[in-house]
Amino acid sequence: MVAISFERGNEAFCAEHGLDAATPPTLGDALEQAHLALDKAALFFGHGSDSAWDEAVFLILSACALPLDSGDSVLEQPLSDDSWQTALRWLQGRIDDRQPLPYLTGRAWFAGLEFYCDKRALVPRSPLAEVIRNKYRPWWTDGAPTRLLDLCCGGGCIGIAAALYQPDLEVCIADIDGDALSLADENIARYELQDRVKSRQSDLMGALGDERFDIILCNPPYVDAADLASMPAEFQSEPPRGLGSGEDGLDMARRILRDAGQHLRSQGLLFLEVGNSWAALDDELAAVSLTWVEFSEGGHGVLLVRAPELPNIVKHLALAE
Ligand SMILES: C[S@@+](CC[C@H](N)C(=O)[O-])C[C@H]1O[C@@H](n2cnc3c(N)ncnc32)[C@H](O)[C@@H]1O
Repeated sequence: MVAISFERGNEAFCAEHGLDAATPPTLGDALEQAHLALDKAALFFGHGSDSAWDEAVFLILSACALPLDSGDSVLEQPLSDDSWQTALRWLQGRIDDRQPLPYLTGRAWFAGLEFYCDKRALVPRSPLAEVIRNKYRPWWTDGAPTRLLDLCCGGGCIGIAAALYQPDLEVCIADIDGDALSLADENIARYELQDRVKSRQSDLMGALGDERFDIILCNPPYVDAADLASMPAEFQSEPPRGLGSGEDGLDMARRILRDAGQHLRSQGLLFLEVGNSWAALDDELAAVSLTWVEFSEGGHGVLLVRAPELPNIVKHLALAE
């Protein structure tokens, strides 16, 4: 958890944001104050919640160490001084420092599962959660997959969720960043998955030898230079290596498409997220028929490639020499 100095009774911060320095009587009162303060602060929401209200609920329940699915009955509960001081500290980190809330609370959710979360890796938010929940259907039709690679795994949420949704799946998770992998290892241990989920430090697939997989799920860096320059302050807290990928956002995606054929089984599938850079990739591969995944829970920019399609795709890629 990130330590932020918050002076007990920091009245200037409280006064500026309409917050009581003294502990409000109930959790419901605290929620109302947090909501108003977050709403007025012109923040960016998109790191696990999409509104000031959702974030206020997440913040206050976390400060009170209550589960996120607590019902309305908790609103009447008395609030402890410690919980309010924690909430004020997190509100200050969120409003003054523009930190994403999961970095302050140390908790994030992905595919309905809770993960440890801190600045060692991006805050989980990939639409690949829906692909995992749907068990890779309708594209995977051949019984259950047995081996899966989560490439560019960050804190490990994608590979770990895949393993939890399919109890006999063997999973390799790989990232170039040792700090991200240390967080991923903590998440693997949290779910006692050390036997089935193995982490590997690797520059894309460079350290994977001749290993092959049924499924590769990959959320690589894919933000293009223009988007990177105009991102809200909240993104400055995330590891830069997790976001940018060259002028058009596709430097990593091209390398992944070039090499994936060596690591997929003959009927394997690659799900490659490229977010807003999907239009540039779609243009570059205009001569090829591409499958873009449609999501019912929100999200876009995920390309689905079947192993036999890769040679033709690689032929049309603008690969650097
Ligand atoms: C967009 S983040 C995704 C993290 C995680 N999969 C998720 O969905 O939250 C991209 C990740 O790619 C990793 N990365 C960047 N360059 C890489 C490379 N050359 N090889 C492997 N991983 C790389 C970064 O360290 C970062 O963790």
